[in-house]
Amino acid sequence: MIDRLFKKKDIAAILNESSESKGGLKRNLSAANLVTLGIGAIVGTGIFVITGQAAAMYAGPALTISFVISAIGCVMAGLCYAEFAAMIPVSGGVYSYSYTTMGEALAWFVGWILILEYLFACSSVAVGWSGYMLSLLNEWNIAFPHQIAGATFDHLKDGSWVWSGSIINFPAVFIVSVVSAFLIGGIRQSALVNNVIVVIKVGVILLFIGFGLSYIDTSNWVPYIPENTGGYGNYGWTGIFRGAAVVFYAYLGFDALSTAAGEARNPQKDMPKGILVSLLICALLYIAVTTVLTGIVNYKELNVDAPIALAIDRTGEGLSWLSPFIKLGAIAGLSSVILVMMLGQSRVYYAISKDGLLPKVFSKVHQKHGVPHNATIFASIVTGLIAGLFPLHVLSELVSIGTLAAFTIVCISIVVLRKTQPNLNRPFRTPFVPVIPLLGAAICILQMVSLPWSTWVRMIGWTVLGFIIYFTYGLKHSKLNNK
Ligand code: ALA
Repeated sequence: MIDRLFKKKDIAAILNESSESKGGLKRNLSAANLVTLGIGAIVGTGIFVITGQAAAMYAGPALTISFVISAIGCVMAGLCYAEFAAMIPVSGGVYSYSYTTMGEALAWFVGWILILEYLFACSSVAVGWSGYMLSLLNEWNIAFPHQIAGATFDHLKDGSWVWSGSIINFPAVFIVSVVSAFLIGGIRQSALVNNVIVVIKVGVILLFIGFGLSYIDTSNWVPYIPENTGGYGNYGWTGIFRGAAVVFYAYLGFDALSTAAGEARNPQKDMPKGILVSLLICALLYIAVTTVLTGIVNYKELNVDAPIALAIDRTGEGLSWLSPFIKLGAIAGLSSVILVMMLGQSRVYYAISKDGLLPKVFSKVHQKHGVPHNATIFASIVTGLIAGLFPLHVLSELVSIGTLAAFTIVCISIVVLRKTQPNLNRPFRTPFVPVIPLLGAAICILQMVSLPWSTWVRMIGWTVLGFIIYFTYGLKHSKLNNK
């Protein structure tokens, strides 16, 4: 029995299975597509909402340093993802990597955690999208019935759940359905839609940076690192570190790109490029936005839902023309985050199902469109339901813990695989192994430990549910174990 749980998959076998000629997914993504998919997944709520709040509450103008620190942590994990994605360019991402390093039961656990990450990331961003859309409609004086404008359930501070008075968050369900329809249309079409969205959102951000520069009042940057007001995280250097943990969310998404490796034309060369270049571009954009934002508005006033919009208001007539574009940019931006995370979710179902650990129906590939349509439809139904029923904060905490757990496993697996299979063909090599992966893992574990206990309880509940499914279905149907 124990042997079965720890049975590992051969890397050569995984690579063989993923070839297109056997009716698998279509390899249609170029290097440029991968970079834009990366940016599409990364730039979202983080920059449009969280930046202002983190500057106001923790780091002040020095949030730029937080962004640099957080980027260093992400690049460490990103390098490990790049090594794996080039070495094992298949659809399951970390799930497939773990199958080769830690065996079936742990790979299932990782796949289950990835589903948690992508499912809750999609749903939480869909709820954020709904908020922005409703505010835009409101600005245009379009009334939207409140019965279908919010989450069905509300979670109170004492931990109880109550009915909010709303039937369902309709705009959130709507955007999930639209995105799924594009995904089912094919990866080429999805990449095209994503490219358009990325041009819009990056364009809007560049406009803000470019035009905002001349409205900077440098006195807002003094003091650059506000003095600590007592306790950990309240400005000063500890505030910068807490800020780094908070803005970590803004970098998430590059990992979802690894699940598209099975659809990349030249994954060995292009996956590392896609992951690292998109991460770097986003880091530069974030640092520039934070510099301009804290230069226009004093950090103490930035604890608002739409900090960039506030900065534009502060320029008076000067930049008011930019205001609707920022909202459109945010709405577009969130749509592509949903798109890539949903892509990730469906590809994880697909990969797990191909191994027999989930029902076969999820690994069917659409003959004409070359995508796992059943997995995508299933992902959209579950995501739509969760996004429609639950409030934002409950969803977003689960995203962080799932992602951090996945990052930790990837970093540790790089070290394990270098030891156990030193001669594998590695088109991209993470530098300074084991220092970089171990540091990356340590940073992630530290951040996980600082998450609230209630999030851990939910994560444990999710894991238990996962293992019930594995022992009642997966183990019996596993292809590897039932050869
Ligand atoms: N990085 C993504 C965002 O900021 C999750 O919305």
